[in-house]
Amino acid sequence: MDTKLHIGIIGDIVGRAGRDMVIENLPYYKEKYNIDFVIANGENASGGFGLSKKNANELFSSGIDVISGGNHSFDKLEIIEFMDTMPILRPLNFPQNTPGSGIYYTKIKNKELAIINAMGHYGININLDNVYHKLEESIISLQKKNISNIIVDFHAEASSEKRIAFCLLRGRITALFGTHTHIGSDDLHIQNGSFYVSDIGLCGGYDGVIGMDYKVPLNKAMQGYGKGRFEVLENGNNIFQMIILELENGRCNNAFKIKKINDVELDSINAFNLES
Ligand code: FE2
Repeated sequence: MDTKLHIGIIGDIVGRAGRDMVIENLPYYKEKYNIDFVIANGENASGGFGLSKKNANELFSSGIDVISGGNHSFDKLEIIEFMDTMPILRPLNFPQNTPGSGIYYTKIKNKELAIINAMGHYGININLDNVYHKLEESIISLQKKNISNIIVDFHAEASSEKRIAFCLLRGRITALFGTHTHIGSDDLHIQNGSFYVSDIGLCGGYDGVIGMDYKVPLNKAMQGYGKGRFEVLENGNNIFQMIILELENGRCNNAFKIKKINDVELDSINAFNLES
């Protein structure tokens, strides 16, 4: 019997370009690497701001099993009524009474798995609860329930906050991956059985500013003020990136990243095991 779990993790999916890259590529890689479960961040999946019910269904049909969120979780308010029935998370340290949940539980191949969505504080204009205390409480309660496979999406601007969370949880969780910056980092490694990467990076348009057309942000940057709404890039070069984790007995043994720009698959990057 296969005792290993293969988990795919995808960062921020930005707009139609991001959704299309996931729809085109995920089924192929899922089959190629025997992926059992896929987690993706979908807070920018609909026009760059929020997640509509229609687009959530599109992503679930492409092979994603749970969608996490962040500061844009509630940009499309229609999603609120589906958060109790669909596997859609928002950060667990949102203020009390915020709809939805920050933790998702499931069982795959008879193994319990918990996905936690958390959010850092730097540059985030939301009155959040302390993310480290919230994570600590959650890990203690999951451990009491003997759930050993725990994966955290830490949605934050600052890599230092992601490192603090990893140092707090290392050895007690299976993986912590960063989202929100939309820029993939190459620091993937495993330590004490826990996987870490500062940011997976976006799926979407590659030519502008973090998946958005550059004209409005450039104008605002050059003039100090400006009009216009940020628009998702619709034409140009697109990127798909995903990390695949191999888990056994609550530990991550192996991990690698695949990256594809348009139709070209780049060399994969292996996570360095700091114990070896
Ligand atoms: Fe974000």
